[in-house]
Amino acid sequence: MDFLYEKVMRPWFFRMDSERAHEVGVTMMSTLGRISPLCRAMEAWHRLPANRFKPVKAFGLEFPNTVGLAAGFDKHATAWPGAAAMGFGHVEIGTVTALAQPGNPQPRVFRFPESEAVINRMGFNNHGAEAVAARLAKQAPRGKRRIPLGVNIGKSKATALDAAVDDYLRSFELLAGYADYLVLNVSSPNTPGLRELQDAKRLRELLGAVAAANAARGADRRPLLLKIAPDLNYRQIDEVLGVIDEFGFDGIIATNTTLARPGPFAAVDEAGGLSGAPLRRHSTEVINYISRATLGKLPIIGVGGITDAASAGEKLDAGATLVQLYTGMIYRGPFFAAVLAKGMADRHRK
Ligand SMILES: Cc1cc2nc3c(=O)[nH]c(=O)nc-3n(C[C@H](O)[C@H](O)[C@H](O)COP(=O)(O)O)c2cc1C
Repeated sequence: MDFLYEKVMRPWFFRMDSERAHEVGVTMMSTLGRISPLCRAMEAWHRLPANRFKPVKAFGLEFPNTVGLAAGFDKHATAWPGAAAMGFGHVEIGTVTALAQPGNPQPRVFRFPESEAVINRMGFNNHGAEAVAARLAKQAPRGKRRIPLGVNIGKSKATALDAAVDDYLRSFELLAGYADYLVLNVSSPNTPGLRELQDAKRLRELLGAVAAANAARGADRRPLLLKIAPDLNYRQIDEVLGVIDEFGFDGIIATNTTLARPGPFAAVDEAGGLSGAPLRRHSTEVINYISRATLGKLPIIGVGGITDAASAGEKLDAGATLVQLYTGMIYRGPFFAAVLAKGMADRHRK
């Protein structure tokens, strides 16, 4: 399968413009998701045998394996029903914003094959929380899904930073009912000002408001996670962890894309967030720091630069309970997650 992707599919994909290739990938996964018998057969093929492997437990949910699809691939919740068939153990849709928005002008995604990297400045193009909620209402409901579904929400571009809390609350109210877990994304580099929400004062307001709205759901409360940037310094990470603790958030996702331009990227003149192999080491360092600072008590989803079993394993070794990937799939193919999940299965053998 790897050979087929490397020799046939990848060259075909890479002849297309990056965003077009992304759209084709999303359409393929959506189509797969509609062919139930094929999905079930592929999922059965990839699923780790239940008699030999325990599910991975995190924030009250059970995952069939450690590898998830990171936010940004399925922005509008059209493709995720096909993710389990490709071997993913969970999937995170979004980022979804309260208002539908087109994102930044194209081109806005750039591949760097020699570095297994991508720079993107998509800018949260998405159909908006209302449309995504309507779509989720027609798909498999909670409790009947093959794998947990995370919903990642962010701030609408047209909403001023000072009105961000209400903007997130609107998305929360529309989408929480459909999410197995919910993620507040305050770390995309492509929405002006968004990362300022990581500052302690603004973060307290945001997390406090969403935690209160979540508590008001009573027994129907959802696990809440925060997704952070890799570009915070350790003092800033300590502040973020303090706020997470104060409002009883259930976990953290580390990390989003980076604004740093390591090595050969110093000469690359494209704005946006860098993902893939060049992000690997730093994202793992952040995970390691968080794990130590929280004495391993805060569940971490590790993401950034996973391109093989070693780079996924090092994130688990650094303290992550689960991992996610996106860029690695562009270079390694649609069944990369399945290969990784099998490679790391020993970590949750019975
Ligand atoms: C094209 C593209 C779009 C992305 N869009 C989002 C997004 O909407 N929300 C989000 O939280 N992360 C987004 N990300 C970041 C990924 O979820 C992930 O955190 C990051 O790419 C690092 O993982 P990777 O190296 O495996 O890609 C995006 C990444 C890429 C490459």
